[in-house]
Amino acid sequence: MTDLDQTRVELLGAIAAADAEALETIRVSALGKSGSITALMKTLGQMSPEERQAKAPAIQAFRGAVADAIAERKAALDAAALDARLASERLDMTRPVAAGAEGSVHPVSQVMDELAEIFADLGFAVATGPEIEDDWHNFTALNIPETHPARAMHDTFYFPDEEGRAHRMLLRTHTSPVQIRTMMTQQPPIRIIAPGRVYRSDSDATHTPMFHQIEGLVIDKDIHLGHLRWTLETFLKAFFERDDIVLRLRPSYFPFTEPSVEVDVGYSIEKGRRVIGGSEGWMEVLGSGMVHPKVIAACGLDPDEYQGFAFGTGVDRLAMLKYGMDDLRAFFDGDLRWLRHYGFRALDVPTLSGGVGA
Ligand code: PHE
Repeated sequence: MTDLDQTRVELLGAIAAADAEALETIRVSALGKSGSITALMKTLGQMSPEERQAKAPAIQAFRGAVADAIAERKAALDAAALDARLASERLDMTRPVAAGAEGSVHPVSQVMDELAEIFADLGFAVATGPEIEDDWHNFTALNIPETHPARAMHDTFYFPDEEGRAHRMLLRTHTSPVQIRTMMTQQPPIRIIAPGRVYRSDSDATHTPMFHQIEGLVIDKDIHLGHLRWTLETFLKAFFERDDIVLRLRPSYFPFTEPSVEVDVGYSIEKGRRVIGGSEGWMEVLGSGMVHPKVIAACGLDPDEYQGFAFGTGVDRLAMLKYGMDDLRAFFDGDLRWLRHYGFRALDVPTLSGGVGA
């Protein structure tokens, strides 16, 4: 056995037995700037070409073997350290939460739960659609063709145009594309609500680039504006938990409804604050109307056989009106003080019998 072989056996043995700290010491003393193997490598420079040819392969192989062994040992030690850490930081998720550590339900989630509860009682199912939409579902099928000025009104976040794609992708600007997706996959009678996130490039005290809407859609035979009015009145009475809710329907325009109706709800002033109920003043709360025959036809249904109504409104706005917040941006700041103040206890599930606002 040569000296080199002898050193190699000893070194590899030490590496295999080293802990993290010892391994680093070995690495520095062997492969570091003034390490023994580094010094050995330097001797190659002083050798005659013949000698170098004879000795270099062994020295280089030695260096390679030591470097590999160190890397291998380090990987094994790191893996063992991670396993130990995972074992020691393990949490038993089935144990009760420590007092004071629980989170709260965000007002937006609370209001969405309240809305689902109210509409479930009226026979509506909850439908969903993707937040990354294509412009056909978000606009074209809703009777907003490419050149329509309403496209500009929506301040749309578009994705870069992709070659080979029939429709440009975007972040949905409203929940109305869920109307399309529902009509294309379900047969009437249809009764759905679709709560979810929507996006527009807009930001101030009452606008955030992401906000929440809820869409409602009913498609059946012989549906008329009276059904829409009754549904909205019933929903708003249940939501605001007052019987003196007064609605005012104003003619309006949406490309996907005809006729289109904007819905105001009456408020009164109590102790200097606006509260929903009564009719001292009016607040706009909803967009709605009878689904445009072109939209029904775009989804493959016969508009002579089926009609329906749709409505859409801001969930965040409903939450602000009901629970008295005045800055929309605070909804998405993630400030724990705000969440503790306005949040709801996780076990306070809204029910119609208990009062949805309980
Ligand atoms: N999608 C409309 C908006 O975002 C609201 C709406 C929905 C109007 C359904 C009519 C019918 O402003």
